[in-house]
Amino acid sequence: MSDLVQLTKDNGIAIITINNPPVNALSPGVPEGISAAMDEVDRDDSIKAAVLIGGGRTFVAGADIKEFGKITSGKGTRGEGFKPLLLRVEDCRKPVVMAIHGTAFGGGLELAMAGHYRVAVPAAQVGQPEVKLGLIPGAAGTQRLPRLAGVAKAVEMCAEGNPISAQDALNSGIIDKLIDGDLLAGAVAFARSVIGKPAPKTRERGDKLGTPQQNARIFAAARETARKKQRNLIAPLAAIDAVEAATKLPFSEGCQREQELFAKCLFSDQSKALIHVFFGEREVVKIPDIPRETRTIPVNTVAVVGAGTMGGGIAMVFANAGIPVLLKETDQAALDRGLSNIQKNYANSVKRGRFTQQFVDECLKLIRPTLSYDGFAGADMVVEAVFEGMALKKEVFGQLDRVCKPGAILASNTSTLNIDEIASATSRPKSVIGTHFFSPANVMRLLEIVRGKSTSKEVIASCMQLSKKIGKVGVLVGNCMGFVGNRMFGPYRREAQFLVEEGASVEAVDAALYEYGMAMGPLATGDLAGLDVGWRIRKEYRHLQKPGVRQPIAEDRLCELGRYGQKTGAGWYKYDESRRAISDPEVAKLVSKWAAEAGIAQRPISAEEIVDRCLYALVNEGARILEEGYALRAVDIDIIYINGYAFPAYRGGPMWYADAVGLKKVYDRVCEFQQQHGELWTPAPLLKQLAEQGKTFAEFSKEQGAAA
Ligand code: NAI
Repeated sequence: MSDLVQLTKDNGIAIITINNPPVNALSPGVPEGISAAMDEVDRDDSIKAAVLIGGGRTFVAGADIKEFGKITSGKGTRGEGFKPLLLRVEDCRKPVVMAIHGTAFGGGLELAMAGHYRVAVPAAQVGQPEVKLGLIPGAAGTQRLPRLAGVAKAVEMCAEGNPISAQDALNSGIIDKLIDGDLLAGAVAFARSVIGKPAPKTRERGDKLGTPQQNARIFAAARETARKKQRNLIAPLAAIDAVEAATKLPFSEGCQREQELFAKCLFSDQSKALIHVFFGEREVVKIPDIPRETRTIPVNTVAVVGAGTMGGGIAMVFANAGIPVLLKETDQAALDRGLSNIQKNYANSVKRGRFTQQFVDECLKLIRPTLSYDGFAGADMVVEAVFEGMALKKEVFGQLDRVCKPGAILASNTSTLNIDEIASATSRPKSVIGTHFFSPANVMRLLEIVRGKSTSKEVIASCMQLSKKIGKVGVLVGNCMGFVGNRMFGPYRREAQFLVEEGASVEAVDAALYEYGMAMGPLATGDLAGLDVGWRIRKEYRHLQKPGVRQPIAEDRLCELGRYGQKTGAGWYKYDESRRAISDPEVAKLVSKWAAEAGIAQRPISAEEIVDRCLYALVNEGARILEEGYALRAVDIDIIYINGYAFPAYRGGPMWYADAVGLKKVYDRVCEFQQQHGELWTPAPLLKQLAEQGKTFAEFSKEQGAAA
């Protein structure tokens, strides 16, 4: 036996314990240890049955994800011993009972299914989440699961990847018994009850594999759902194919088919990208100059100023996390409007099954409306979400400085204003920070945390920690115009407009980016957010525009016509009562006219050009941000785009995508656009440098990190 797996005996029952903290991952040594334990169980006549259990807080939570990257980069080989181990467990001559607490995910569930019986505590969860990393189960999960749970359940679990509860697992036949109370004692008692009985081998079962007619319907429906809900992804379809193989082929051939499909997924760009995103979310919490042990400010009560679109959503975010919120407005009508929006949002969540009525009632009790700053002295943190205007923000922060207790975090939700200037309205700029939520705040996972020049490390560390508590992905960014996300979004949307002005149809631009994988095209996104928002900002900053440099004209003109987007029933598209977008031929005519007046020639434009123009505009600005240090690493930008702008995770984010295309190729195309369209396309110096050196943004970030 190894240190990682121990065997003890309890009156005829072998207790095999996996001890590989923190999550008993199937790292090298664990399969070998289990195999040795199985030999012992078979050899020792005093052992009549065995229980396999995880030490610590969980059963086996899954494979070691780092191993996948090693295989695809040629630095490792797949733990080929795992599949034979499962056969070894299944062939054990004495009953093996798998005792599950915590989670049995991925390889953990595959291991559990090779046992003859499974018992679990009610709080346990099981699942095959591989698809979330662009993979499918690779150790017969797609072959054993339908034999235990039936074809429909197996397809759902393998193609969607969501965990199921122990009760659900019991109902579907994945586990045999729920154990209330002590799991080990219950599992040992269960093992005693099956001594001498035939040990059922999952791989030899066929009673749940359905008929060809039933299965055809299940697979067709699953494929349709996958194409719709997991658009462009290959792993869900591969998972369905693998389960289908289980219904058509003998076990060993089904396993071979699974292996082929697994390899196809593992070596796909999609899986590499999704694994990059998985590790990226864990990377962005690391701030080089802020050690993990930095003191944090406990945030137990919060106040929000402004109950508009953002303030209301932000109040919900805190209430959802159980944190009491004081919500301040200027007058009763605005406050009533804000509260009624919150109530409507919660009612929708109950309708959609996201929350229970009881949960919502508790959240609503935590939100306390007010028209004054009374009570602000008790708040550990204030989030300001009033109208976007420097004078007003400064006035509010001056007031907060007077009423808030020393040490309280003073945060602004501004999307464009300078955090340092806002902080200058207080006597404590070190307490001031930007917390840039994304709309709708109660839904979008991204939180840009904006570091001002005086913001203290404690305040930053506290906000990073808090973001996790409130269910957000916090990414630290620097204080530049638009911060990271919106600064890059500007050039992206600028190109979308230019393309229409140059002759692409509104529908073609949106369709090309939708096909690329964006949740929504850039023009439809503009209509959703309100075209007037950018229009107002452009008017304010017009004096900064360089004369002679081309600026988009169409959105300003649309706004002048009162076409602000969805809210006015028309923008780039027309909208019906239920806000469904309808093509508007009037827009094409108007844009052609405006283009002719501005001397812009119109021409046919390919989908490829649309994608390159919009994405490389994003990447070129991202390169500037990275070089200037406003984002800590390329992966931070990727995480921002995936969580705040619905960038497809399977493309890994804009910077990862550019690395995958090859920076030389991206740079050459940017130069081509510069020749055609002028200085807006000046390549970022970092892009040029890395293209010349044959390096990637990821490598650059790694070197920067090592130097820091
Ligand atoms: P909004 O116009 O919906 O709401 C602003 C609210 O602040 C209004 O209800 C107003 O009555 C209230 N208010 C004004 N002065 C106040 C004061 N002294 N005390 C209390 N309440 C006051 O605006 P929205 O969209 O919620 O934006 C708020 C902030 O969030 C802005 O800084 C904006 O740039 C930023 N933001 C907006 C996003 C969006 O998509 N709408 C996204 C991210 C940030």
